[in-house]
Amino acid sequence: MSSIRTLVRGGLVITAADEIHADVLIENGRVAALAAHGSETANAWTAEHVVDASRKYVIPGGVDAHTHMEMPFGGTFSSDTFETGTRAAAWGGTTTIIDFAIQPKGGTLGEGLEAWHEKADGKCSVDYAFHMIMSDVNASSLREMDRLVSGGVSSFKLFTAYPGVFLSDDGQILRAMQRAGSNGGLVMTHAENGLAIDVLVEQALARGETDPRHHGEVRKALLEAEATHRVVRLSQVAGAPLYVVHVSAQEALAELTRARDEGLPVFGETCPQYLFLSTDNLAEPGFEGAKYVCSTPVRPKEHQAALWRGLRTDDLQVVSTDHCPFCFKGQKEMGLGDFSRIPNGMPGVENRMDLLHQAVVDGHIGRRRWIEIACASPARMFGLYPQKGTIAPGSDADIVVYDPHAEQIMSAGTHHMNVDYSPYEGKRVTGRVETVLSRGVPVIRDREYVGHPGHGGYLPRGLCQYAG
Ligand code: URP
Ligand code: ZN
Ligand code: ZN
Ligand code: ZN
Repeated sequence: MSSIRTLVRGGLVITAADEIHADVLIENGRVAALAAHGSETANAWTAEHVVDASRKYVIPGGVDAHTHMEMPFGGTFSSDTFETGTRAAAWGGTTTIIDFAIQPKGGTLGEGLEAWHEKADGKCSVDYAFHMIMSDVNASSLREMDRLVSGGVSSFKLFTAYPGVFLSDDGQILRAMQRAGSNGGLVMTHAENGLAIDVLVEQALARGETDPRHHGEVRKALLEAEATHRVVRLSQVAGAPLYVVHVSAQEALAELTRARDEGLPVFGETCPQYLFLSTDNLAEPGFEGAKYVCSTPVRPKEHQAALWRGLRTDDLQVVSTDHCPFCFKGQKEMGLGDFSRIPNGMPGVENRMDLLHQAVVDGHIGRRRWIEIACASPARMFGLYPQKGTIAPGSDADIVVYDPHAEQIMSAGTHHMNVDYSPYEGKRVTGRVETVLSRGVPVIRDREYVGHPGHGGYLPRGLCQYAG
């Protein structure tokens, strides 16, 4: 924490609610006050550090509610550590990540959580929190959920996919939802029918269909929609709220939209890869398609318009990255000759704020909606608001000075994520992070990293603020 005063002067302050030309006064790591730029109040302020934000946006630091640093998967680990991943996050204007701790099979939630604390402690450049992946729902892990919720880990991911690894059956999912319904927790689901998908994988491989594009073909939109329908109705039976992660198929979104129209407390997240990439990428020749293998898979381009619409109509509330990078060399290559062995996941923690700003430039969403889906809404969804996700008196001074006119070309040659390719290689976007403050302390200053591992602290979270 810094006890000095910092003044961010002359920018357009954008939150989910407002756009105002205001100066922002920071004291002790928090926002102390905002005042109209040029007003007597603002002109009277003095500070040790002044950040000139004229002709720039002043926005809350991004909240990426879905990352996987150092995640074990298929005999390897996602290639960003908490150190490299949170540094890259800062470069991209994200100042909070929520990563997924994993309950070991046969172990407790507490053991999983402890292991993730060990990975992250002292390593992070920006603040972090945890969700809990439940891979073994039983009487004792169900009881343990209560303690996690009251201890600041208030959301639990359950899978209808990955049989033998993460999959829970419908009864287990129902029990976890019932428990969350009574303790205030939020169940998150990975909704794809994994048992049916595994049959299609086996049949495809038997036909000699081994290329990355077949990953997209076997993980059918219908099987995402079916699982989405199922978890929505299970949550309705349990009387619990539900958050569906990485929605990619328009048919799955339609299930969420229907449920929301019925008044059910169900929420949805999508990710930049589903908004900007498609099965055209999966079909790139020479095994290049492996770079875009993730689950749920990228879909044919036609799905993108439905996702943008869902973001505009608030049938989808959050865009997070599902950042889970694997290097092309040595990691993605594990699936040469068998697409089912390609580690699932893509990088993106550094790109999300810029890609969504490009969506503003392209006219898909407005500026305040950009901040809502990338900062405010994830903070509210996961019990971090208004400490995170906005710029208001009392909020943590996680502030990004953003140049909406700068041009950049995304590339593995210039990004800071620890992965040897960019899914957005060569993509030209308008807008760029200039300066990033985390609790008032510069982490990026004028496009230079000035942070350090260990500045980022662990954030115990409250309850979902939409579910109540
Ligand atoms: O392909 C993905 N999404 N990898 C990360 C794990 C998950 O299911 O979110
Ligand atoms: Zn998932
Ligand atoms: Zn994920
Ligand atoms: Zn520090």
